[in-house]
Order: sequence, then structure tokens, then C-alpha cells
Amino acid sequence: VDSKVPVFSFTMGIPKPNWIAAFKKNSTLLIGTATNVKEAQALEAANVDAVCTQSSEAGGHRGTFIGPYEHSMIGGLALIPQVVDAVKVPVIAAGGIMDGRGIAAALALGAQAVQLGTAFLTVNESPAHAVYKKQIRERDAGDTTITKVFSGGAARGFENDYIAANTDKPLLPFPFHNALTRSFRNVANAAGQIEYTNLWSGQNGRLARQIAIQELVTALMTETEDVLTRLSGLKLSQ
Ligand SMILES: Cc1cc2nc3c(=O)[nH]c(=O)nc-3n(C[C@H](O)[C@H](O)[C@H](O)COP(=O)(O)O)c2cc1C
Repeated sequence: VDSKVPVFSFTMGIPKPNWIAAFKKNSTLLIGTATNVKEAQALEAANVDAVCTQSSEAGGHRGTFIGPYEHSMIGGLALIPQVVDAVKVPVIAAGGIMDGRGIAAALALGAQAVQLGTAFLTVNESPAHAVYKKQIRERDAGDTTITKVFSGGAARGFENDYIAANTDKPLLPFPFHNALTRSFRNVANAAGQIEYTNLWSGQNGRLARQIAIQELVTALMTETEDVLTRLSGLKLSQ
């Protein structure tokens, strides 16, 4: 709040009304994460400016804060239009979007913008280890799982030895378990020891590209325009 940031995006809940009011006083644009329709409506009622839908394909932590996360594993094709219909604020779609096809699809479903995570993990500028980048680009969507073992909170990443050995072991609540495991995950990350660290990835990693970030952004824009142009010529009636 003191930094008067132009945009504040959050997940896993809604800041208390006094914080929302303080951000609003600074004209900070507020973006909240929804994994179901109820959360989107609660965010709108709390006066946020835009809702980011996090569908089940997404890599990293689940943002669910109303109901158990298992009830909010909703694919983008279902989540995006339902949230678009349920709120008046703009919707930003996230989860499994990797190229112009995904962006055009999200726009077709009513989203006004998109948010990509996994697509940026493999760019040249990303500090992710080369072994991790290779996993994202070569492993199957079915090799990802939702696990709490690294942080205490549900998150999507690739299965590995650490998950296999620690599932069903006691956990501190999020974010305390996250802090507990951070130091060895940092060491494992730096060494490329992928069996002992979290390998967050969405379900669409095979579409990830190992190119410069600028090239990726340019490609995403060109591809989206190409898809929209191709579809605009589509005629279904005689
Ligand atoms: C490595 C990684 C870290 C992430 N960290 C955050 C985070 O700190 N805060 C957040 O709101 N979302 C975080 N996310 C989730 C993204 O905001 C987004 O929901 C997700 O990446 C979209 O799906 P995709 O990875 O298939 O593009 C993270 C995702 C990844 C892959």
C-alpha cells in the first residue's frame, strides 16, 4: 500500500475491507483469483476491478478459498464462460494457455485478457534449471499431479521421488510447510536435482518454447491474430 503500486494481484482469498479501501484510495487496480463462480462473485462484491480465473490445468498453487480445492478443479472451457456470465468486472483467463490458439479460445469464451505461467518458465531468460525446463517440454500432462507435500497447500507439478516418499506424511499448514522445505528445495533446484524439489507445471507444458521472452510475446500476439482471422472467415450456414 505504501508503495502505491499501480496493480495488486492476489490469490487464495480476499484482503480485508480496510486493505481493499486503502488500495482503492491509491487508485491501485485490484485483481483477485477465482477457481469457481462463488469466489468470482465474492471478489466482485469485495470491489475488486478484475477477476482472474484459475482453471484446473494451471501450474503452481491452487487459489481456492471457498470450499475444498477438489471441488474447484474446473477446466477452462467450463470455468471461463460461467465466471464471465456471473460477474460484470473483466475476466482474465489463466490455466493451460500456451499459444495463440489458447488465447483466442479464452477470448471466445468471454475473457478480456489472459495470464500465462508455465509458458514463461522455459524462456531463455527464465532462471529455472535446464533439467526442469526439459521436463516441462517433454513430460505428459498426466505426469503432473496436485500435491501438498512441498508447501502444505495444493499445487500442480510433476510427480517425483519427493512426492512419492512424502504423500500421507504430516504437514504444517500453508505457508509454514513452504518455509520449512524452502532451503533444501533451493539447493536441489540449483543442482538440477529434480527428484527433490517442486517442479510446478501446468498441464500444457508440451507447448512450452525455449526462446527469448520477447520472441514468445511477439509470437503469442501474431498467433492470436492469425487464429482470429482464420475463424472470422468461418461460415456455418449456406
Ligand atoms: C512456477 C509457478 C509459480 C506460480 N506462482 C504464483 C504466485 O506466486 N501467485 C499466483 O497468484 N499464482 C502463481 N502461479 C499460478 C499462475 O498465476 C497461473 O494460475 C498459472 O500459471 C496458469 O496456468 P499455466 O501455468 O498453465 O499457464 C504460479 C504458477 C507457476 C507455474
